[in-house]
Amino acid sequence: LSAGIADEVGALVFDIGSYSVRAGYAGEDCPKADFPTVIGVTLDREDGSTPMETDGDKGKQSGTTYYIDTNQLRVPRENMEVMSPLKNGMSKCLHYNIPAFFLCKSAVLSAFANGRSTGLVLDSGATHTTAIPVHDGYVLQQGIVKSPLAGDFMSMQCRELFQELNVEIIPPYMIASKDPVREGAQASWKKKEKLPQVTRSWHNYMCNCVIQDFQASVLQVSDSPYDEQVAAQMPTMHYELPNGYNCDFGAERLKIPEGLFDPSNAKGLSGNTMLGVGHVVTTSVGMCDIDIRPGLYGSVVVTGGNTLIQGFTDRLNRELSQKTPPSMRLKLIANSTTVERRFSAWIGGSILASLGTFQQMWISKQEYEEGGKQCVDRKCP
Ligand SMILES: Nc1ncnc2c1ncn2[C@@H]1O[C@H](COP(=O)(O)OP(=O)(O)OP(=O)(O)O)[C@@H](O)[C@H]1O
Ligand SMILES: [Mg+2]
Repeated sequence: LSAGIADEVGALVFDIGSYSVRAGYAGEDCPKADFPTVIGVTLDREDGSTPMETDGDKGKQSGTTYYIDTNQLRVPRENMEVMSPLKNGMSKCLHYNIPAFFLCKSAVLSAFANGRSTGLVLDSGATHTTAIPVHDGYVLQQGIVKSPLAGDFMSMQCRELFQELNVEIIPPYMIASKDPVREGAQASWKKKEKLPQVTRSWHNYMCNCVIQDFQASVLQVSDSPYDEQVAAQMPTMHYELPNGYNCDFGAERLKIPEGLFDPSNAKGLSGNTMLGVGHVVTTSVGMCDIDIRPGLYGSVVVTGGNTLIQGFTDRLNRELSQKTPPSMRLKLIANSTTVERRFSAWIGGSILASLGTFQQMWISKQEYEEGGKQCVDRKCP
């Protein structure tokens, strides 16, 4: 999803994901900002005081206050609940005084960023892994295939790994000091003496940040289907948690992400009918007209933060090569830089919004007020 503001100077481009929001100026190479898609909501206390200062607005002494920056700064705040504005229905960007805007499907923009107007976009973000066929710049709706096996699923599995190891996740805000300990030994750390009364949601959010760092640093997708013996030979990876607990992770590194490709192997998914990443792609292509399938296999655009797990594209390439009909040429397009892989939809939006022809695409404020939502459906296919 991308929206912008029109004037002679240029446009603003937004890509609002469920994990983070990317925002910046059209025409630039990468977004100016990339911040978590969560807000902090302060709760009113029983004694009538509000626990946080609102920005000088005395009229808002009571009532809910929203803060976006809190989680970037990681400062513990009392009585603050953390929630996603997407899941809680609070995103109303059209309420701002925007002179004109345009919405575009993120898959089209990702293809665009990779110089394609036709291709199969495989986007594995936080909540979903989705295959979206794009043909001549339009999404083929009937061919979209979605699976919930993505980044959040990886986080959940990592959390369970630590539970099995009997290791508690302690976020940095609680830690006053720590001593070095042996590998695998219990952590030796001191809690801060004066900890504010944070809410469960805020605490959980901070724990998730720790887990996500582990996930990005340690996990690796195996080249070929998971094999216990091969995994045992894998080089281990040393990782230390904020409280000093440290361990060499071996087979688990491969076993957890294996669930993305082979859901039958994933823990906690009994009797599941979810599709692994390779199947998501082949099912999607199979649902498109036979004439355009070569064009889709010829440009499989890999995007989204979860595809940054080490070895992800190699394994995908391998699986797809085995499944692609021999008459078709398979080509995976996966940018090697983290920035381009996570920001491809934003980058596509930045390119689109700086084209001369884009000036005719805008929906002006007046048009929107007169035509309502229908003009969005009509002008933003
Ligand atoms: N280097 C990395 N290695 C592994 N996983 C990563 C890496 N960087 C980010 N992730 C994971 O990728 C996910 C976020 O991906 P992305 O930024 O594409 O999501 P999004 O577009 O905001 O969310 P969605 O597409 O679900 O709406 C998170 O689960 C995060 O933990
Ligand atoms: Mg996304």
